[in-house]
Amino acid sequence: MSAGLFLTLEGGEGAGKSTAARFLAEQFQVRGRAVVLTREPGGSPLAEAIRQLVLSNWDEGMPASSETLLMFAARAAHLQATILPALARGAVVICDRFVDASWAYQGAGRGVPAVQLAQLETMVLGSLRPHRTLLFDLPPELGLARAKSRGDANRFEAEALDFQRRVRQAYLDRAREAPDRYVLIDAAQELPAVQAQLLAVLAAMP
Ligand code: TMP
Repeated sequence: MSAGLFLTLEGGEGAGKSTAARFLAEQFQVRGRAVVLTREPGGSPLAEAIRQLVLSNWDEGMPASSETLLMFAARAAHLQATILPALARGAVVICDRFVDASWAYQGAGRGVPAVQLAQLETMVLGSLRPHRTLLFDLPPELGLARAKSRGDANRFEAEALDFQRRVRQAYLDRAREAPDRYVLIDAAQELPAVQAQLLAVLAAMP
């Protein structure tokens, strides 16, 4: 097992994960920890190039299998270039989305079979899993409204409400199945209340 701490942030659109990730990074830095703040898809030059491909709108559409393979291709590059070296140095890695997003979006959202996702997960991650996953949960109606106020929608933000509801339910199911790894954050609350929840989570962390 690596020496660092691997935290992932998950949730639907407009849940405030990116703001929370920066807040968590500052809190760890204040406590004297080296922090690597990163995101998926992306987090290394190759993985960021794949991000551009997978989030863009294509006139020909994008098959769910292409989308899934691109997500895992980006993840493999990100792990090799960024996450694994940082964990080996003992850093805290805070990652805005990780493999749970593939289960929620490609699995529950697009209907990619679990057996296929499990194979890709084994190929790319081996036995590596995040130490903690913070699930930012909120009603999709609220999240989409927040995301829309940010401007142009990517391919996922443009998906209908029933897609977003399947994503939310998949995350909640995964959290229930792995209560030792997941921490539920009520992301419908205002920023100060969310930050208070994050500080409580931090206090309980190694
Ligand atoms: P974000 O950076 O705004 O969170 O956008 C990334 C989008 O990519 C988001 O809508 C969720 C989606 N996504 C997947 O569908 N599968 C994945 O494995 C990951 C990491 C992200």
